Amino acid sequence: MTATKTTPAEVQIPPRDIHFDFEGAKGRRWLGGDPVGTAVFNALSLTFPDGERMFIDAVRAYRDRVDGKLAEDVKGFIVQESIHSREHHTLNQLIDRDFYEVDYIEASIKERVAIARSRGPMRMLLSTIALEHITSMMADIHAANQHLFDSAPPGVERMWRWHAMEETEHKAVAFDVFMVATKDWTPFQRYFRRCMVMAIIGIMFPRNITDYAAHLLQADGYSKEGAVKAVKRFLWREPGIFGRGWKLFFAWFKPGFHPWDHDNRALVTTWRKEFDADLATPIPATA
Ligand SMILES: [Fe+2]
Ligand SMILES: [Fe+2]
Repeated sequence: MTATKTTPAEVQIPPRDIHFDFEGAKGRRWLGGDPVGTAVFNALSLTFPDGERMFIDAVRAYRDRVDGKLAEDVKGFIVQESIHSREHHTLNQLIDRDFYEVDYIEASIKERVAIARSRGPMRMLLSTIALEHITSMMADIHAANQHLFDSAPPGVERMWRWHAMEETEHKAVAFDVFMVATKDWTPFQRYFRRCMVMAIIGIMFPRNITDYAAHLLQADGYSKEGAVKAVKRFLWREPGIFGRGWKLFFAWFKPGFHPWDHDNRALVTTWRKEFDADLATPIPATA
């Protein structure tokens, strides 16, 4: 029998309590003058505060079942995600709300998160592990496409890179909690449930981001069809921030999958040097 896979012992999940400088995000086309890329990253940012709060509650619901290194990882996960949520909320307040239809997007996100929450803690945890797989995949693509942020405001660039790094560090925490919480399930039950949830989320998440980004883009003068086409091109083809991750994405459907099967510790090590200066000590009381 093979040992249960977990987050590697040497991967730490330290919270870094950083307040980023978002002044430059007040400009309408902060991503190098590109309205499409700006709309996509603003759409992603708008989903994070409520989404990440749900991730925290999903993991917290099973917290009393874990101990040792995983208990420490859970603590780090909760604080990292709560700081992400805070920073994205701050950034989202700077989007020009008189110009862009932000209210529609925020209302839609709140409704979707409320539905996910109403289905109970296990369904929330399943959604969390699926979305954490997608965010960690995006972190890898971010690392390969850092040039996209070359002419972005430095504070905004740093925030997206910090988020990508911490998503990599904690990419398996919710998954590890899921494995403990379902230890009485058969391997097939686990496999079936997580694949079913990913089949839904793998379609719904890109669809929602396309819808939200296209709504933002219409304010920039695009027709509805033109906006959808431009956003899909950005997501799937060039630069392809979703499309380039298909191999990583489909790894999920391998029986016995674990997020650290894709070992990208080197990526974390490189980025950490810059951000570790801001390690949060002590861990805030919200943990
Ligand atoms: Fe996050
Ligand atoms: Fe995360």
